[in-house]
Amino acid sequence: MANSNVKPAQGKLGIMVVGNGAVATTFMTGVLMTRKGLAKPVGSMTQYDKIRIGQGADKRYLHYSDIVPLAKLDDIVFGCWDVYPANAYQAAIYAEVLKPQDIEPVRDELEAIKPMKAAFDKNYAKRLDGDNIKGNITRWEMVEALREDIRRFKAEKGCDRIVVLWAASTEIYVPVDEKVHYHLSDLEAAMKADDRERIAPSMCYAYAALTEGAPFIMGAPNTTVDFPAMWELAEKTKMPIAGKDFKTGQTLVKSGFAPIIGTRCLGLSGWFSTNILGNRDGLVLDEPANFRTKEVSKLSTLETILKPDVQPDLYGHGNDEDTQYYHKVRINYYPPRNDNKEGWDNIDIFGWMGYPMQIKINFLCRDSILAAPLCLDLCLLSDLAARAGRYGTQRFLSFFLKSPMHDYTQGEEAVNHLYQQYTMLKNALREMGGYEADEEID
Ligand SMILES: NC(=O)c1ccc[n+]([C@@H]2O[C@H](COP(=O)([O-])OP(=O)(O)OC[C@H]3O[C@@H](n4cnc5c(N)ncnc54)[C@H](O)[C@@H]3O)[C@@H](O)[C@H]2O)c1
Repeated sequence: MANSNVKPAQGKLGIMVVGNGAVATTFMTGVLMTRKGLAKPVGSMTQYDKIRIGQGADKRYLHYSDIVPLAKLDDIVFGCWDVYPANAYQAAIYAEVLKPQDIEPVRDELEAIKPMKAAFDKNYAKRLDGDNIKGNITRWEMVEALREDIRRFKAEKGCDRIVVLWAASTEIYVPVDEKVHYHLSDLEAAMKADDRERIAPSMCYAYAALTEGAPFIMGAPNTTVDFPAMWELAEKTKMPIAGKDFKTGQTLVKSGFAPIIGTRCLGLSGWFSTNILGNRDGLVLDEPANFRTKEVSKLSTLETILKPDVQPDLYGHGNDEDTQYYHKVRINYYPPRNDNKEGWDNIDIFGWMGYPMQIKINFLCRDSILAAPLCLDLCLLSDLAARAGRYGTQRFLSFFLKSPMHDYTQGEEAVNHLYQQYTMLKNALREMGGYEADEEID
């Protein structure tokens, strides 16, 4: 760390989570339990992974915190907003992700995390009916109230730095509209004109975070920071942004498995992915307009890994126009499974002389158990990026995201290939630590 040019992680880091649901409370409980030595933060790269530094006889494998100055778990202070007034203890019990014995030891700390009133518009998540909301205020009033929340929280908790993480429900799909979402001045004008159709509440959280000097992370597939006006704001405020959509279960498998097919030059005629889950996330996604947001995010993964235009013989067959493989994603709300999602992937491939074969993957996962370490890593690494003077879209965080942000206005492509993403992550850490980047795989 001797050569690191990053400001030290001094003082407390406030992590303000939008949403106090299954993911948020599993994340908070895990951090608090780990701090007490009662749990292990399994799945967290910032806590476990080691990266090679140097080459040949000089090579060493170091934890991230030995390469760059990361905030310590002991320095984290949690806050949140939610539509429902339940504190983090009640919400964790309600979510039924963790057993009571894994929650009780940190009950007092969780009870002290009481959600601030949400900036909410029921049109964006019809299935939610909580009343812990800021009321029927304009979009600009939402921004101002959220900014006030951040300032107050920071002062009351004595935090040096804040990160805002969206772990709230998936909003309905908001298509990017050049007239509103391309320039910061237009975005601000639309917020002031209370354009409820094109300004989602999540955009107000992002705007508030960035203007208060806090990085913003989008854990759901919402459009929120994925357009030029927000990139302009991130540049102006010199704050990092990251998104979209935590890459946890099925898409993690997909972005790790598709490279096997691509590298081996096998053909693909179709990939059908289906899921059953029964938590509140599943309930919200049961609404077609909310599912649409998720579908767009989940579908984008394969497109940049298995490309029909680059390999028409292998990937140019399957759909109506016979130009690309079929790729379907379905999510079915099925209450008995709660947070224990089951994903099935049926992959129709073909080999030598076009002979068909099938691969089936059945992942019985736990949604929030997979998402919690990502929350931790994204918060710690965004805070790191801010201290390193990095701002705008943090492409090195693509590894953690289903639909990584990229400048589509310049024809830039997202990187979805898991191992390319990992190389980007390692090299960003090496660079911030003052070491040389390289492309070796190990
Ligand atoms: N768990 C995973 O594997 C995974 C993966 C990718 C993305 N996600 C996304 O993470 C998000 C959280 O998932 P979850 O399982 O915790 O859902 P959840 O339903 O348990 O929690 C979401 C919470 O957000 C609150 N909320 C909704 N709109 C809000 C607003 N405007 N302001 C404040 N709070 C608001 C809801 O009241 C709810 O309590 C979802 O959008 C989900 O799609 C989860």
